[in-house]
Amino acid sequence: MLKTLLVAGARPNFMKIAPLYKRMQEYSNFFQPIFVHTGQHYDQNMSHSFIESLGLPDPDVFLGIGSGSHAVQTANIMIEFEKVLLSSKPDLIIVVGDVNSTIACALVASKLSTPIAHIEAGLRSYDREMPEEINRILTDQISDLLFITSPEAEGNLMREGIQQTKIHFVGNLMIESLIQHIDQIDQSTIRYTLPLKNEQYALLTLHRPSNVDHAQSLEAILNAVVKISKNIPVIFPAHPRTQKQIQKFQLNMKDFNDRLYLLNPIGYYDFLNLQKNAKFVMTDSGGIQEETTYFGVPCLTIRNNTERPITTEVGTNQLIGTDPNKLIAASQEIISGHVKPGDIPKYWDDKVSERIIQILMKYK
Ligand code: UD1
Repeated sequence: MLKTLLVAGARPNFMKIAPLYKRMQEYSNFFQPIFVHTGQHYDQNMSHSFIESLGLPDPDVFLGIGSGSHAVQTANIMIEFEKVLLSSKPDLIIVVGDVNSTIACALVASKLSTPIAHIEAGLRSYDREMPEEINRILTDQISDLLFITSPEAEGNLMREGIQQTKIHFVGNLMIESLIQHIDQIDQSTIRYTLPLKNEQYALLTLHRPSNVDHAQSLEAILNAVVKISKNIPVIFPAHPRTQKQIQKFQLNMKDFNDRLYLLNPIGYYDFLNLQKNAKFVMTDSGGIQEETTYFGVPCLTIRNNTERPITTEVGTNQLIGTDPNKLIAASQEIISGHVKPGDIPKYWDDKVSERIIQILMKYK
């Protein structure tokens, strides 16, 4: 029996552990999955609503960490997670993605000689200003099994001295989660609750510190979006961090435009429904670059780099940078019908968790 702690902490983690947790339950003679939630995200609509929609049970262990500076958040997770590891003595921990919970728990496990599997290993933006890039590099260095979503991650890892035998190309668990819930996603009625009058719309998300933590950059992006919204309504479910910054910089959304709809963060099915049916998406998120690629919906990424180049090479994603004029020009292209075609990358399917399970069974 492989006693396995699956760690999640922030919104984009839950959809990556859910398919794996459920698959482990199907192999209950072999796996004892234990769901640990660090509490890095704690609002109902950033955490619990996702857990419920994804069919995950309540966490077996909740660390209740909450927000703080990077040092405070990471250190608090480490202190609490060490107690959990010492008392539960698992055979393996699984961490996903690149958030502070990922590196914090991996570091604790590494010091206690507990094997670590990292899901979504090897993604690199090569931008060390991004806190996530540091989390990725360090987590990969101390992981024993590195599960990658796209082939170029293998080269990234090997250049950092990681043994090839530890690396496994299994595909994208977040896409497996999407596929598992496609019926509920299609049934969402969110669009009918918005004042769209059957018009096409664009979807916007923003939460990267580099875009939202400085008044000038946030205001420049929102001004560009207002110009875009004159041609197409824009729906903007805003991350709590972004809402707080809008308030702090006293950006009055009412001064913007009545076709830019600011919403609170919304649930998993509703959000994916809005993505699937959008004319195009503007974002600085990592996961949304992948989900739009799967849906074949054009995505304009408001960043200077991406750790997910497969979404621009194979998928519908375009890296726009943070120049507002480029964002306006690119959206105009799409509105006038010039859309970048895209394909679905290899192994972005509904068998990712099964591939991981088969590897874990041999690992034991
Ligand atoms: C974190 C991840 C980021 C990921 C994002 C997804 C790190 C370093 N960053 O960023 O990679 O893309 O999650 O959402 O781990 N807040 C709330 N309620 C919540 C959670 C956060 O109000 O439930 C507010 C707090 O003011 C908090 C701020 O958002 O200080 C930022 O939260 P934090 O977890 O530090 O980082 P994110 O920006 O969410």
